Amino acid sequence: MCGIVGYVGPQQAQDVVVEGLRRLEYRGYDSAGVALVSGGAIADAKKAGKLANLEKELADRPLPASGTGIGHTRWATHGAPNDVNAHPHLGHDRRVGLVHNGIIENFADLRARLEADGHVLLSETDTEIVAHLVELQVASGVDLTTAMQRVCQVLEGAFTLVAVDAEDPDRVVAARRNSPLVVGLGEGENFLGSDVAAFIEHTRDALELGQDTVVTITRDGVEVTDFHGAPVEGTRYHVDWDLSAAEKDGHDWFMRKEIFEQPRAVADSLLGRRSQAGLLQLDEMRLSDDEIRDIDKVIIIAAGTSFYAGMVAKYAIEHWTRIPVEVELSSEFRYRDPILDHSTLVVAISQSGETADTLQAIRHARTQRSRVLAICNTNGSTIPRESDAVIYTHAGPEIGVASTKGFLTQLVACYLLALYVAQVKGTRYGDEIDEVMRQLEAIPGHIETVLAGAEQVYDLAREHVGTRSVLFLGRHAGYPVALEGALKLKEIAYLHAEGFAAGELKHGPIALVEEGLPILCVVPPRGRDQLHEKMISGIQEVRARGARTICLAEEGDTRIEPYADALVRLPRVPVLLQPLVATVPLQLFACELATALGHDVDQPRNLAKSVTVE
Ligand code: F6R
Repeated sequence: MCGIVGYVGPQQAQDVVVEGLRRLEYRGYDSAGVALVSGGAIADAKKAGKLANLEKELADRPLPASGTGIGHTRWATHGAPNDVNAHPHLGHDRRVGLVHNGIIENFADLRARLEADGHVLLSETDTEIVAHLVELQVASGVDLTTAMQRVCQVLEGAFTLVAVDAEDPDRVVAARRNSPLVVGLGEGENFLGSDVAAFIEHTRDALELGQDTVVTITRDGVEVTDFHGAPVEGTRYHVDWDLSAAEKDGHDWFMRKEIFEQPRAVADSLLGRRSQAGLLQLDEMRLSDDEIRDIDKVIIIAAGTSFYAGMVAKYAIEHWTRIPVEVELSSEFRYRDPILDHSTLVVAISQSGETADTLQAIRHARTQRSRVLAICNTNGSTIPRESDAVIYTHAGPEIGVASTKGFLTQLVACYLLALYVAQVKGTRYGDEIDEVMRQLEAIPGHIETVLAGAEQVYDLAREHVGTRSVLFLGRHAGYPVALEGALKLKEIAYLHAEGFAAGELKHGPIALVEEGLPILCVVPPRGRDQLHEKMISGIQEVRARGARTICLAEEGDTRIEPYADALVRLPRVPVLLQPLVATVPLQLFACELATALGHDVDQPRNLAKSVTVE
């Protein structure tokens, strides 16, 4: 949600900043802008719409050469997405240029005070007032670092701010509270970015910053302080992926590339999870066996796709550990006065590690003395940093706004957590855990098989270009898969799509079914329980009312054939693991249908990758 870049060094800042914005554009694409320090003045350019509009503007009207600059790609909160509201914003005398990600909650008060003092504010944004406030400070004689510290003390809300001062050409100053910011450490140059993708082609050495910090970068130095000027340490780390991970690699969309990366991502997430003795080990987890034995309730909190991963996790954790699990939308969690104590394990699932709703939820949980475990894909992000324990997924950077490999690797982490707790608590025998691990280790190969059948799914997707509504049905662990399939279609194809538990349909939603309505059905594997048969009953009910059923069913399931207008085969896996294979055709379906409809799959309207506002 908004991408931010800063640079000081010998290269042309405009090129470095615009390239960084290109890699962060997935975070927001309502407008883009840059500001450079040159000849004692700020030179800026900003344009509504995608980065391409800014690039055209810069080609028509190049900015002067400069080694110091900041940039921004916006997901609008305060004010419409137009040129005037685009960042950077400048102070009253155009001395300070500033970009911002987040929301300043006391902006109305601050704005009123500035206006009373005669400041003319050009935009509707909360950001412009911060530019004015910082400029007032530097005009009073302090340097940009001190100015930023002082201003941060009066701001409320969530923010990453990055600023330059026309009269201090070799310094970029940034601040963060509840919003992401990392420093890229170069040789004779330094970088700032909302995430490391912004500077990955220049350096893989990064500095993670704590909460409420101000950082100053110059060509040769990086200094971090708190909001009162006291020095604090950042944490250095090396990024374990490179530029190629942030490129499309011959695919038309990042999303498609990321769907096809899933065999690898799942394998990476499983790597190194077993000791030589064959026991499950979760090295980074940081919860002792005693703490795990203490757990008598699990509450999973997450948003969107991560929430659906949490729904699958409930089936797995309850089945393998017999610990009751609640799954809760993070935006709702703390407003319902949840019952928590020290023996409740709160599991926060977040691909980005920055989702504001989930972050606030874990903070609430920690005030209630619960232990918080994060399942996260982004090293150094806020949610794992503020959690007691973490399981990192190893999906690599996910750039497509619609989550794909992020979801599958979250599922893997949830299974690992469930099995690990079962191992520690002794609720499952070692050989059973071993058997599930072997089944999990076979999943990358199964996903390859599903991907090899992509053309069949693409054909089905293209047949639905004129469709206005699509339903998804599932049961048990297939129910969250149905919800996820529907979310993918809403997000990128802008179609009405809804997922239902197949058994629930007859209690109302079946009234939606009419002649020709496409319904994608996630058919559970045949087993000793009644799931498969009950699913077939549900499918019969909708077919009887004219629906066109596209069934995802395991190899060898002949019983489903009479009820499927189209049949996509899935590899045979146990019901609890089926989401790992059944989700993939639904991702392919959404991606291809959105492409056929002419939509921008990687940058769907109104969305942003990481939602850092509540
Ligand atoms: C859907 C999607 C979103 C995210 C949600 C949570 O494709 O990407 O629904 O899953 O915003 O994001 P994280 O997992 O980063 O907390």
